[in-house]
Amino acid sequence: MRKLVVKTTDYLEGNISVSGAKNAALPIITAALLGEGSSKLSGIPDLKDVNNLVSILSNLGAEINFTDSELELNTDEINKYSTESDLARKMRASYYTLGALLGRYGQACTVLPGGCEIGNRPIDLHLKGFSALGAEVKLDHGVVKLEADRLKGANIYLDYPSVGATINIMLAAVMADGETVIENAAREPEIIDLANYLNIMGAEITGAGTDIIKITGVNKLIGKDYTIIPDRIEAGTYMMAVAAVGGDVVIENVLVEHVRPLIAKLKEMGVEIIEDINQVRVKSNQGLKGTDIKTMPYPGFPTDMQAQFMTLLTQASSENLVIETVFERRFGHVDELRRMGAKIKVDGRSAVVAQANLEGAQVEATDLRAGAALIIAGLAAKGQTEIQNIYHIERGYEDITDKLKGIGANIELVVE
Ligand code: UD1
Repeated sequence: MRKLVVKTTDYLEGNISVSGAKNAALPIITAALLGEGSSKLSGIPDLKDVNNLVSILSNLGAEINFTDSELELNTDEINKYSTESDLARKMRASYYTLGALLGRYGQACTVLPGGCEIGNRPIDLHLKGFSALGAEVKLDHGVVKLEADRLKGANIYLDYPSVGATINIMLAAVMADGETVIENAAREPEIIDLANYLNIMGAEITGAGTDIIKITGVNKLIGKDYTIIPDRIEAGTYMMAVAAVGGDVVIENVLVEHVRPLIAKLKEMGVEIIEDINQVRVKSNQGLKGTDIKTMPYPGFPTDMQAQFMTLLTQASSENLVIETVFERRFGHVDELRRMGAKIKVDGRSAVVAQANLEGAQVEATDLRAGAALIIAGLAAKGQTEIQNIYHIERGYEDITDKLKGIGANIELVVE
């Protein structure tokens, strides 16, 4: 069994570097299936989710070499179009194979995905998109099957700016006949990154990063080299840790415009932020002022930072409101934080967080970001915290224990 043991830390200091973005790596690695020949992708984080995706794509016949943040993927020998496996079931992003395989080979099949336990997370918008492009969509006992002789560009309006649906439709539409327009598209930086990579391979995509994305279908894409963006959520997690514990830390490899909503909130709370090219210096000596947050699609406050921010609010003055609008069940961390003495009242999708002196306890990471929130809580708490179920954390944070130790955090990985 693996667990994290976290002890009181008074001050964080030094430099910490952010890895490539998980949520860009997963769609971009899958998008490499669309290109003829080989793509070499750089800045790929060594994470459980990435390694699982590598296994899933290798099973299709893709030849993949992944070492030292570089992933080379060759598509010459792909001979299967189904990713029906336990591995795919466990990993939500495996559904990107639907868009990519449908786009290139006209057929795709996978199991309905799992992933973090943070709500229902249906894929109806993805399926509506595939169907609008002319694919036949069959759902049978949790298995999704797609088939199309020839995909045709279409106008697709998303009822909600879903990140996953926008990506899947882009993957399917890049080689469809004619023009596809996605309206009310998600605007996350990871979408822009995917569009940039697809365009380098020969796609014709405009408008990524706005709510209208236009895709003119092309006949083929050719594998290319590409470096992915840094992980804004990893950067944000370290920013919250410094703010909660106190310290003076330079966070390197950050695209500052991607963490604007976080910078704004930290400044409101009295944390000093010094921006530089590709880095952010965070200085905090506690005495934090309270503030409220409401999660929203990008460029709003990210739902993937809500749990870590809630931990931070336990260290801030007054009572503060957290509203989660993106996922309907994303307060799994609340019970765990309460075990540590947090004073949080939940009503539906809202939580009121009061200032509290946290104390070490035995807790469980209920999902990826909840796990990160508990690490921050453990550093700020008095005594020792033991975090179980850390596989959730390892799905999304590369080397988090060593990176945090590097800035003075009292944290150990214990394998029993
Ligand atoms: C992605 C991110 C995740 C992040 C989320 C929101 C990846 C691998 N994951 O998840 O870390 O928390 O964006 O920023 O990039 N919805 C539907 N029908 C659909 C699709 C989504 O109702 O077909 C709903 C979801 O249930 C949820 C909301 O839309 O309530 C947002 O989901 P979505 O933007 O699709 O998130 P993911 O792509 O799953």
